[in-house]
Amino acid sequence: MKDRFLRALKRQPVDKTPIWLMRQAGRYLPEYRATREKAGNFLALCKTPELACEVTLQPLTRYALDAAIIFSDILTIPDAMGLELSLIENVGPVFNKSIKNIDQIKQLDVPDPYDKLNYVAKAITLVKKELNDTPLIGFAGSPWTLAAYMVEGRSSRDFAKVKKLSYSEPDSMHLLLQKLSVAVTSYLKMQIEAGADAIMLFDTWGGLLSESNYENLSLNYMGKILRSLEPTGIPTIVFTKGGGMWLDKISRIGSTCVGLDWMTDIKVAKQIIGHKVALQGNLDPAIMLTTKTIIEKETKNILDSYGIGNGHIFNLGHGITPDVPPENVKYLVDFVHSYSQKFHD
Ligand code: CP3
Repeated sequence: MKDRFLRALKRQPVDKTPIWLMRQAGRYLPEYRATREKAGNFLALCKTPELACEVTLQPLTRYALDAAIIFSDILTIPDAMGLELSLIENVGPVFNKSIKNIDQIKQLDVPDPYDKLNYVAKAITLVKKELNDTPLIGFAGSPWTLAAYMVEGRSSRDFAKVKKLSYSEPDSMHLLLQKLSVAVTSYLKMQIEAGADAIMLFDTWGGLLSESNYENLSLNYMGKILRSLEPTGIPTIVFTKGGGMWLDKISRIGSTCVGLDWMTDIKVAKQIIGHKVALQGNLDPAIMLTTKTIIEKETKNILDSYGIGNGHIFNLGHGITPDVPPENVKYLVDFVHSYSQKFHD
């Protein structure tokens, strides 16, 4: 059943619970590491459509996944805005130029995606030719999460610089978020035009905010983006890491599906919002480091908690980590498909 993922997003009946994994193309796969080596570095891999296509398809060759996600990164937008992204081993993403003041924000140009990010559209076109009806997910970072990296200049434990800016210069922060919302919207429209079948917004750092700031700085902007995408009819997934306390609010901004991190009980999430949206998640990624017995027990727990009913897409609660044994992924994917049949007609 090739449309299992798209049907589950629409809460329509399926034969088995669909599954894909955040960061399914990545360093835990030796063939990914080989292609990245060939590209030279991570960003070159993102910017070479043939190679980005190759790594997008790698996990689908190995596993019976129900969706592909285009290989790219959320930080391609700030890179296209001139911040000069690089990925440094053991540090993570670093911008050569970070955002420090209002003048820099005023000067930022919203990039034309067809010019500066066309490599992503090309990669999508190539992947779609190879996929033969398996759906392809396009994605972007939420404006807040992108702003967090742009102001901080790199990953951070507490993102204190961007929070300081939000409190001390709210107008500057909103100007930045406004520009990023326009950039994300046109970037996602380009991905849809190129063939993306569903769209996911990654709000990795929304959970760092107070409830009112979450609404004000993250949720509202994501809602705006979703409203602009509505006429396309493409299903959407919103994922806020650490957003478990705000599920009701998150479910009301117009997405088709809400992504859950591993901290939320999926049974509770289903009770709160499962009648409004589909749910995606939510196995703790650390479980993938253990044994088949433990993976089976914890996976059963999630599938049993969701129970009978449409609208569940199995996933991890965050991205898969580089030290996961590839055979554990095969075990997980096959187990989800076999065990979940009893929850569907
Ligand atoms: O899911 C997929 O398979 C698609 C590819 C994808 C990547 N990044 C590839 C990647 C997606 C959807 C992302 C999103 C992304 N990127 C997020 C949101 C999701 C999340 O994880 O919260 C964030 C916050 C980023 C920013 C980013 N990019 C970080 C923090 C890092 C370093 C972390 C790490 O694992 O080293 C990256 C680099 C990155 N993006 C890698 C991959 C496969 C590792 C690069 C490598 O070493 O080859």
